[in-house]
Amino acid sequence: MSLIFKSEKTMATQEDKLKDIIGHAKEYGFVFPSSEIYDGLSATYDYGQLGAELKNNIKNYWWKAMVHMNENIVGLDAAIFMHPETWKASGHVDAFNDPLIDNKDSKKRYRADVLIEDHIEKIRAKINKDVAKGLKRFGDDFNEEEFRATNPNVLRRAAEIKSIEDRMRDALEEEKLDDLKKLIEDLGIACPLSGSKNWTDVKQFNLMFSTELGSVSGESAKIYLRPETAQGIFVNYLNVQKSGRMKIPFGIAQIGKAFRNEIVARQFIFRMREFEQMEMQFFVRPGEEMKWYEYWKDYRIKWHKALGFDESAYRFHDHIKMAHYANAAADIEFNFPMGFKELEGIHSRTDFDLKKHEEHSGKKLRYFDPEINESYVPYVVETSIGLDRMFLAVLSQSYKMETLEDGSERSVMSIPPALAPYKVAVMPLTKKDNLPEKARAIIDDLKIDFNCQYDEKDSIGKRYRRQDAIGTPFAVTVDHQTLEDNTVTIRDRDTMKQERVAIADLHGIIHEKVNIRKLLVG
Ligand code: GAP
Repeated sequence: MSLIFKSEKTMATQEDKLKDIIGHAKEYGFVFPSSEIYDGLSATYDYGQLGAELKNNIKNYWWKAMVHMNENIVGLDAAIFMHPETWKASGHVDAFNDPLIDNKDSKKRYRADVLIEDHIEKIRAKINKDVAKGLKRFGDDFNEEEFRATNPNVLRRAAEIKSIEDRMRDALEEEKLDDLKKLIEDLGIACPLSGSKNWTDVKQFNLMFSTELGSVSGESAKIYLRPETAQGIFVNYLNVQKSGRMKIPFGIAQIGKAFRNEIVARQFIFRMREFEQMEMQFFVRPGEEMKWYEYWKDYRIKWHKALGFDESAYRFHDHIKMAHYANAAADIEFNFPMGFKELEGIHSRTDFDLKKHEEHSGKKLRYFDPEINESYVPYVVETSIGLDRMFLAVLSQSYKMETLEDGSERSVMSIPPALAPYKVAVMPLTKKDNLPEKARAIIDDLKIDFNCQYDEKDSIGKRYRRQDAIGTPFAVTVDHQTLEDNTVTIRDRDTMKQERVAIADLHGIIHEKVNIRKLLVG
């Protein structure tokens, strides 16, 4: 019977899908709860043997696309601890706050703005439902654009969203915390856990973790765990510019840990207190920042789409409330199992950071531009993506349950081959007759270029399923014919088709599918 799959099983609900992914990630060694033997630590996770590989491959894809593919971008690896004055200059000590609100009955703590955004999302879902109904009713004759622009229900709901967003923006920008609470009350927002509308006042909460340097305690020795990697780039901007003889426009890229004492840290690795960022600061001539802002928005969305996931899983979202340093900001949102959420931010940070560091350090951070014979503080356009969120995006788009033609089911991770933890599994048909030795010899030859796994336990069918479940693009089986003519069968994860090929051709076949070149140059 053919094993070509018939259908992708529909996951019961989005929430179930997230639960399934979390279970799968743990079962196969992608992600574990941190210090699990002590019942874990909230919002902290450890990456297992496959998770570490996938993470490295995502980092490599980002680093290559941002650093190696751009002559004018170089890398950096700055320390997590920085001089405490850094965070006063950057505004994080005073302004890196989230508005928090507690529900008096459930004792649960929420971000006030997130409660409001979730409410807006519900109204948006109603609009989308109306659109879906129209599409179902009128089929190909349905003009979605016209419907959205004229339908009274849609227009009323869109106006409602706008009015809520305006009130929220005003309250956040002016730090009118009472207005924020009033908005929550006016909208009748209830605690998602208890349904209670008994709220405390809204308070500001600083998200930075602090610790003490050396053996001295107290305010004078207080240092922070960096809440973003960007400041390590700003304070090194002149070091890199001078030592690397960089000419504007140029960029500095960095991958590293960041820490935030998030009020609401949940949804698996989406919002953690310790996470990793991949950030790039692009230094430009003042006045040219909007051109580069558009350039990097375009460059980054192409980077995402090159992975081949469903294009409708991405959308841009312009910020309602700008961070304290930005004059333009957009998110690339991704359709996670919990709905559309921020995956990456692109920010025009003006000269805010460098100017503040000049003021606080007393050091000049100017660039002499020989083309216009002028010295200035550069403007900065930033791209900032959470590695863990990117990891979750890859897992959630790749993970599927499929029903095969014979009625059996398989779980498969269609991870883009260049990112897959293992590229090929090599399996002897049996554990005897010199087949294991032959399989190991094949691995010895392939392992320099590809991460390989040796697997001899259980039936071949079960072994294929195991490799499908971890996203290995190829499975190679060594059988008795191999000993006679140096051929093997190679099975493709996605089509499940098997082909007999010469061992000498394996390298080329695998390389063709898993090399990162395709992602980088199309
Ligand atoms: N340097 C700019 C900056 O840090 P941000 O929007 O606060 O901007 C950038 O963060 C990215 O870092 C986000 O788009 C998200 O992917 C990731 N990120 C932020 N907070 C996170 C958290 N608590 N857990 C996981 N990822 C997070």
